[in-house]
Amino acid sequence: MLELQVINRDTFSRYAGLSLPRHVAYPMPTWWHEVDAEASSKLRALSTCAPALRDLSLYLHLPFCEKMCRFCACNRTIVRKDSQSGAQRVSQYLDVLIKELELRAEDIGKINSERRIVRQIHWGGGTPTYLSCEQIQQLHGATTALFDISPDAEISIEVDPRVTTAEQLCVLRKCGFNRISLGVQDFDKKVQEHIGRIQPFEMVKQTVADARQAGFTSINFDLIYGLPLQTIQSVKSMIEKAIELEPDRIAFYHYAQIPDRIANQRGLDHTALPDSDSKLTMMLEATARFGNAGYVYVGLDHFAKPDEMLVQAMHNGQINRSFQGMTTGAELDLFGFGCSAISILPRSMYLQNEHDISAYTEKVLLGIDPAVRGKALTKDDGVRQAALMQLYCLAEIDPARLQREVGVDFASYFAQESSQIDRLVADDLVERTELGGIRLTQPLGRVLMRNVAAVFDGYLDEDAPWTGMKQTFSASA
Ligand SMILES: C[S@@+](CC[C@H](N)C(=O)[O-])C[C@H]1O[C@@H](n2cnc3c(N)ncnc32)[C@H](O)[C@@H]1O
Ligand code: SF4
Repeated sequence: MLELQVINRDTFSRYAGLSLPRHVAYPMPTWWHEVDAEASSKLRALSTCAPALRDLSLYLHLPFCEKMCRFCACNRTIVRKDSQSGAQRVSQYLDVLIKELELRAEDIGKINSERRIVRQIHWGGGTPTYLSCEQIQQLHGATTALFDISPDAEISIEVDPRVTTAEQLCVLRKCGFNRISLGVQDFDKKVQEHIGRIQPFEMVKQTVADARQAGFTSINFDLIYGLPLQTIQSVKSMIEKAIELEPDRIAFYHYAQIPDRIANQRGLDHTALPDSDSKLTMMLEATARFGNAGYVYVGLDHFAKPDEMLVQAMHNGQINRSFQGMTTGAELDLFGFGCSAISILPRSMYLQNEHDISAYTEKVLLGIDPAVRGKALTKDDGVRQAALMQLYCLAEIDPARLQREVGVDFASYFAQESSQIDRLVADDLVERTELGGIRLTQPLGRVLMRNVAAVFDGYLDEDAPWTGMKQTFSASA
């Protein structure tokens, strides 16, 4: 358990608050390039060049929500459920999404007549439970008809307790979904009112009970700290309430505040944000309290019960950090479907679909690849991606593992970064290991993980191709 007093708050305040990436990808999307159909088909073909056939993970993006939450940084679109035009938009989007699955299933599902097995499916959003029970069955039915899905596949969905019914949860279980992730954010009434998301504790409790009743054995809570009006006391209470409901996993996200890019965040009172020092205490409280309640600290901001797949994946090297947070399945090729969905071939490429629903729809209906930007990774990108993945997922860089994964010697490859690493050691963010690698210290290095990671990011000094400017990110801690 962490001792709150052991942290050096002077050192912390020198590092906290810098605008740095969260590395849900490396290189971050800011440094990807525009692609046309020919370029995207070359990128997709990299999947067939892997030395061994890799199994599959599928991501389906469902962008609809009934009401805007003011803090939200996701790609979502607000559609009134009771409007006829809204219902038509949703049903057309589903048809297009299924068409995209059909267009691509043949290429992805088989390489040289060998079938690739789907080990993981995730529906993200927006709010996937915006869909009716019939629509859920329609979309999942189309997926199962097109791909070979492993009987023990991990099939998960993001669920907003305000719009999710017991009936939907039963239908999801019948379809084979086995993991749900609840957007909880905070239990405090004042904070909820301010962020435009009223969701009483009893409502979350009921959704958890319904999910357990339906047979879900893995339930995740998304919580956010650093929101306007939150105090150390209110966050402590949020943590206690979360523990009371016994989720299997918890994502304890730092509020990503980028009002320049996200218009809806401009409605929040940013003078009421907790300062860096308070946020540090909130994170340390979470680590201590979740730890005391038996949760294992995973990656930058996740906690999970010891018997959860996520913890097992951490032990067997299959843990992954991506746009979906910390996940299992590092050994899989991920293909994204739907507007803004991202495909990831580890060490090889990223590819993202059109963000805008109309542009995405138009392309798919014409049979054109809806990918709009992406990146083929260089050898150096692959090395840095592997190093960063270790840092975020395992809190260390192990030279033997790096050698195995990407064939480089840590000390010589990162010789140029050596003086920066020395500074991190002097400031007690990292320690050098006996095996010649580095490990994040507890607690300072872990809470400033993004600052350590920045040392291994080869792009931070470069201008972004999209804007021609230095990119801004949310505050590091
Ligand atoms: C697609 S939403 C979850 C599903 C559903 N729409 C809901 O809100 O319940 C994914 C998660 O991203 C997180 N999130 C969204 N905007 C964020 C922000 N600005 N900073 C940190 N986390 C954020 C929230 O915790 C949210 O639950
Ligand atoms: S937090 Fe969830 S429900 Fe709220 S706007 Fe974002 S995606 Fe929609």
